[in-house]
Amino acid sequence: AVRLTRETLYKLYRSSQKIAALTCYDATFATLLENAGVDILLVGDSLGNVVQGHTDTLSVTLDEMAYHTRCVARGTSRAFIMADMPFGTSQISPQETFRNAARLMAAGAQMVKIEGGRHMVDTVDFLTCRGIPVCAHIGLMPQSVHQLGGYRLQGRSEIEAERLLEDAALLQQAGAAMLVMELIPAVLAEQITQQLAIPTIGIGAGAACAGQVLVLHDMLGIYPGTSPRFVKNFMLGAESVQTAVRNYVSAVKSGQFPASEHRF
Ligand code: KIV
Ligand code: NA
Repeated sequence: AVRLTRETLYKLYRSSQKIAALTCYDATFATLLENAGVDILLVGDSLGNVVQGHTDTLSVTLDEMAYHTRCVARGTSRAFIMADMPFGTSQISPQETFRNAARLMAAGAQMVKIEGGRHMVDTVDFLTCRGIPVCAHIGLMPQSVHQLGGYRLQGRSEIEAERLLEDAALLQQAGAAMLVMELIPAVLAEQITQQLAIPTIGIGAGAACAGQVLVLHDMLGIYPGTSPRFVKNFMLGAESVQTAVRNYVSAVKSGQFPASEHRF
């Protein structure tokens, strides 16, 4: 199979087809997910929670991200692979971030994802000018949980919403190839999506985004911790994991997911 590229994803977006993404951390699931039609496999630092059993993502290392990215890459031939820059590897300087991101690209990522708004503009520009496509990530940024004061809805006040709109525009201007928006009001996510030319990928951000992403273990209903309200358990009523993932893909593509009970 020919591997999906950023251009293939842009083509989906331009033809108004939704992009279906899921997190993935190993080769077996990678093969299963791409066979079920998932467009983007995100090697998320949520592996700190669902693979390593931590209560947050802060202790995930670059070596661990590179290892899981290699595992996922080996299990695929078609899916687009995105990898998270873990906490501490993108905050110091654009130069240091490039060196770290290059490790994930060498491990098989086609794009890296970096949490942060306007303060990441220089870094996004530095990386994209030097060959590393970047997906920005705004709204709830789990690596900043101690600064944000918990895992809660972002962009609620008018000032906060305005700031997120500006962040999105600045990140696109700096060269961001995509934008993940986590846990923000659906109307704000819609406004941001309409304002941008690049595709937006939402998680707890309503149905107007160009695509959707969920944590694999959440949508399979197997995470022992509490899953957020925007998650849907696709295993309910499905006879296999393959069917559950296929149902997720078609629910995203048809716009049925997220439904009103999954948004804010
Ligand atoms: O690490 C992760 O799983 C993520 C997604 C939830 C966007 O960053
Ligand atoms: Na992440």
